[in-house]
Amino acid sequence: MKSVMITGCSSGFGLETARYFLDRGWCVVATMRKADESLLPASERLRVLQLDVTDRQSIAHAVETAGPIDALVNNAGIGWLSSFEGTSEETVRKIFDTNTFGVFEMIRAVLPQMRAKREGVIVNVSSSVTLKPLALLPVYTASKAAVNAYTECLALELAPLGIRTRLVLPGQAPATRFGSNAMALMGQADDAPEDYKAFVAQVMSAFGETAAKERTKPEDVVQAIWRAVTDPSCPLRLPAGADAVALAA
Ligand SMILES: NC(=O)c1ccc[n+]([C@@H]2O[C@H](COP(=O)([O-])OP(=O)(O)OC[C@H]3O[C@@H](n4cnc5c(N)ncnc54)[C@H](OP(=O)(O)O)[C@@H]3O)[C@@H](O)[C@H]2O)c1
Repeated sequence: MKSVMITGCSSGFGLETARYFLDRGWCVVATMRKADESLLPASERLRVLQLDVTDRQSIAHAVETAGPIDALVNNAGIGWLSSFEGTSEETVRKIFDTNTFGVFEMIRAVLPQMRAKREGVIVNVSSSVTLKPLALLPVYTASKAAVNAYTECLALELAPLGIRTRLVLPGQAPATRFGSNAMALMGQADDAPEDYKAFVAQVMSAFGETAAKERTKPEDVVQAIWRAVTDPSCPLRLPAGADAVALAA
């Protein structure tokens, strides 16, 4: 029986991906910052483990407790929409610690076991924002674009070891908690200089309009992750959702 470890399973794509793999007979290690078994149907093929991707000890403990896995899905991530000057250094580091270094350290933790087996799949959930420059997204996009570049280079050195590496690029999906989690983070701080206020208001209003139209559904992302894990002929970059597919084209 195949097993998958997924980060960020408390909501959104991670939670739905865990359900999808469970329904298809996989062993699932669903990891969350606050482990909550009630979020998923009880199953002897399910383990819910605490894991904060910014905490090395938490990563090491979860990977050791999980034991051998066939696939890792790096899904945990946080959003941020603001001008660069409206983003403190502390916030930049927080975003990179989660979206970028969290991915690197998860992969560092699972590679020895995958290398020993000469087998494994790693799927990194990035974003379609990396396909086009967008206002107020310099920090978030940079954190995900770094993951794209890293994944594409890593794929070259892991392929000879039998390990596949893939990227899933979701489009805008208002159905998850991504927007509200980002708003909560943005509410905490980081005043932009007055010079940006009118531009920010304009971009936010346009953003609100597009967010109202659902472009990417969580199931688009779940199916892309499933394909990335199970189909060896899947391309390295897989856009997920109608808006992401259109941008990639
Ligand atoms: N929704 C979109 O429009 C969209 C578009 C493109 C890409 N994405 C990407 O898709 C991924 C999933 O997002 P989503 O839309 O499903 O949003 P979501 O509902 O907010 O889910 C994000 C998950 O990441 C977890 N997380 C945050 N920081 C973490 C940390 N330090 N350690 C472990 N887990 C952490 C959250 O856990 P807590 O409950 O503990 O906060 C939550 O489970 C993210 O990487 C995001 O960047 C989303």
